Amino acid sequence: MKIISVKSKTQPYDVVISKSALTKKHLQSVMAKRSKVLLITDSKIPKKHIIKVKKIIGQYSVSLHTYLMNAGESSKSQKVFFDIQDYLLKNRFERSDLIIAFGGGVVGDMSGFVASTYLRGIDYLQVPTTLLSQVDSSVGGKTAINTRHGKNLIGSFYNPLKVIIDLSFLETLPEREYKAGLAEIIKYGLIKNKKLLDYLFANEIKINDKALDALEYIIYESVKTKAKIVSMDEKESGVRAILNFGHTFGHAIEAHHNYKSFLHGEAVAIGMLMAAKLSQFENHISEKQFNFIEKLLNQYNLNYKLKKMTYKDFTKHIKQDKKVKSGKVRIVLLKRLSNAFVTEEFGQLNFSRAIKQHLQ
Ligand SMILES: NC(=O)c1ccc[n+]([C@@H]2O[C@H](COP(=O)([O-])OP(=O)(O)OC[C@H]3O[C@@H](n4cnc5c(N)ncnc54)[C@H](O)[C@@H]3O)[C@@H](O)[C@H]2O)c1
Ligand SMILES: [Zn+2]
Repeated sequence: MKIISVKSKTQPYDVVISKSALTKKHLQSVMAKRSKVLLITDSKIPKKHIIKVKKIIGQYSVSLHTYLMNAGESSKSQKVFFDIQDYLLKNRFERSDLIIAFGGGVVGDMSGFVASTYLRGIDYLQVPTTLLSQVDSSVGGKTAINTRHGKNLIGSFYNPLKVIIDLSFLETLPEREYKAGLAEIIKYGLIKNKKLLDYLFANEIKINDKALDALEYIIYESVKTKAKIVSMDEKESGVRAILNFGHTFGHAIEAHHNYKSFLHGEAVAIGMLMAAKLSQFENHISEKQFNFIEKLLNQYNLNYKLKKMTYKDFTKHIKQDKKVKSGKVRIVLLKRLSNAFVTEEFGQLNFSRAIKQHLQ
């Protein structure tokens, strides 16, 4: 078992990671003195997991309510947000009550935003069940819902009371979702964590097999890296931007395919290759280091070809990206392996070559 303490000026919290972290012992501090609990989850999370959570919470004398969202990104909507708020009001939830987010990033982002606004803020617990949510969305306090004008445009920074990462839930996760989560883990290796990067390179079989010791290690190192970065920059005004490595290109890929053909992590994997290529063209990393990154992504089958996208499609979406400030594209590049930085300084020709190279 591993515990990481995430520092915060407003609300520090612990992340507990183990193969069976969801126990009464780890819930104790969170459940004390509650009278009502709302468990928010989604329709594709296997019933056996939901039964397990309910059984554990059932050991406390609280009245347990469940709100089941339809699985999928389209549920991170204003409509569902108000529906949950109505549910809480109707059932007279008070400020001392608790929300538990039990699911992937969709459930986590929604639950966090509901918690941050209901009665001006009630406590919530994150129990992430996808690899992506375990290493990314459950840590860092960003909450959000989507609008018809774009994704994640309404939200808040609001930390959970605790994050409980129970590896046993990953058993049922579809292979594609697992791989997409691995892409974000590779990202932590590339931007900051050399030890993790080397481990990922050397332990492909164990990781592809979801061996528990390997899972615990890569999740621990990922959360540690994210926790360090977000503690330095809680509101994303500086260093936190390096977490967007590969994301400028990745978002363009997702948007161009209407968020259908590629999962977020899959698109980010391609984006990381492009950003790494640009880092090479800008003489920050060597060709050998680029080849290492490419080989690593190949090991996890995360090197996808883009059949239907042109260079122009990229520039169109990148210009619309909310992270483009005053017309200049800010991008995360690698200074070295495991050392990323944000810059607006790069050659236009290198930028286009880095994208086009992948489209061939
Ligand atoms: N807040 C942040 O900092 C942050 C960071 C990254 C991503 N996000 C958000 O996270 C969301 C994506 O999260 P996600 O990738 O977890 O997707 P998701 O929540 O849609 O989950 C993916 C699918 O897996 C299913 N699932 C979840 N747990 C399962 C399990 N244990 N077994 C089998 N199936 C399971 C879900 O029902 C869903 O169908 C996006 O909305 C994104 O914007 C937020
Ligand atoms: Zn991401």
